[in-house]
Amino acid sequence: MRAEIIAALEPILFGDYRQSYAIRAELENAFAAEVGANFAVAVHSGTIGLFLALRACDIGPGDEVITVANSDISTTGAISQCGATPILCDVLEDDYTIDPALVEALISPKTRAILPVDLHGHPANVKTLRPLADRHGLRIVEDAALATGAQDYGLPLGAFADVAMFSFAPFKPLGSAGNGAMVVTDDDAIHDKLRLLSSYGHSDVAVSTRHPAADVPAGYQDYIAEGYNVPLDGLQAALVLKKLPHLGEWTEKRQAIAAALEAGFADTAAHTPRFRPESAPTFRSYAIRVDCQDKLHSALRDAGIEAVIHYAPPIHRYTVYAGSGSVYAPPGLPGADNLPVTDMLARQYVNLPVTPELTADEVNYMIETAKELLQDM
Ligand SMILES: Cc1ncc(COP(=O)(O)O)c(C=O)c1O
Repeated sequence: MRAEIIAALEPILFGDYRQSYAIRAELENAFAAEVGANFAVAVHSGTIGLFLALRACDIGPGDEVITVANSDISTTGAISQCGATPILCDVLEDDYTIDPALVEALISPKTRAILPVDLHGHPANVKTLRPLADRHGLRIVEDAALATGAQDYGLPLGAFADVAMFSFAPFKPLGSAGNGAMVVTDDDAIHDKLRLLSSYGHSDVAVSTRHPAADVPAGYQDYIAEGYNVPLDGLQAALVLKKLPHLGEWTEKRQAIAAALEAGFADTAAHTPRFRPESAPTFRSYAIRVDCQDKLHSALRDAGIEAVIHYAPPIHRYTVYAGSGSVYAPPGLPGADNLPVTDMLARQYVNLPVTPELTADEVNYMIETAKELLQDM
């Protein structure tokens, strides 16, 4: 795609700077259509996208948000940075996503939202969480950073959430060359706040009404909120826009590689992820689980395979949260000291590379090498 991509970047580099705005808007429209959402707002990163999604749902100081520790620091960071408290829920051993059966017990009078994470590209069961959230008046903010292209119950991810975020960081399923993300919603008010907060809080970008007490003459600029300057950069937007039409085909390749890996590991000591029948995951990488995590990881790398250990240790073990009480769960319930599945997964993950560019020979080499190594461990 080299020539095509360079041609798309040229007008942004050398033309009128407003080209960037047009390209970003084009990407937003195309992405919204791709995931079947009414609105999409392109922002500078998944981290800021999650934060803005929560802010747009009016999450703030004193609120609690139920999420998982089996994720990236961005997940809990976005909640804390709103002034809210992340309440940690354990995950399922099968597909590594939030265990819906444990969520209700974590709901308190302060709970305002649930933030499920589609880790590794595996859809969390957001459809099951929806009636629970509705019963308790909670928002669902879906962290689909790693899952662009995945579907659940026949629908693109985000369909059962109030707002969802998809990251365009380089190693995500739809990557840019730098940072970026898309935040999608069907809700007018959430969309309005996302626009406002991602663009300085400027009155031009949202339909929010001006306050009658504001002293701004007609024709002068006005600010409705203290916002951030974090729209997606035009160069990244142009690149992602060129890649977007290939997403379906690339997702199928990722799924085919994952199927080959699953079959390859069938008779080994490695556990492979298991999915609900409705779940159509994508695979940012293929997370197998083994007891000899470090040994297998380094032996694979020695053999030229770009294995990594993602999401270990889990978030609640990080220095930033150590003893701080800032990630929390009620005593006796799943939480920072009571996340047995999360802790077990983190001790076992070895992530194998899955990219559409991998050849069948490379996938076979990965399977045969890993199988041989596992026999000796
Ligand atoms: C699960 C998850 N959520 C959020 C993020 C943040 O996305 P970004 O890197 O675009 O800020 C990441 C990044 O790796 C992630 O893995």
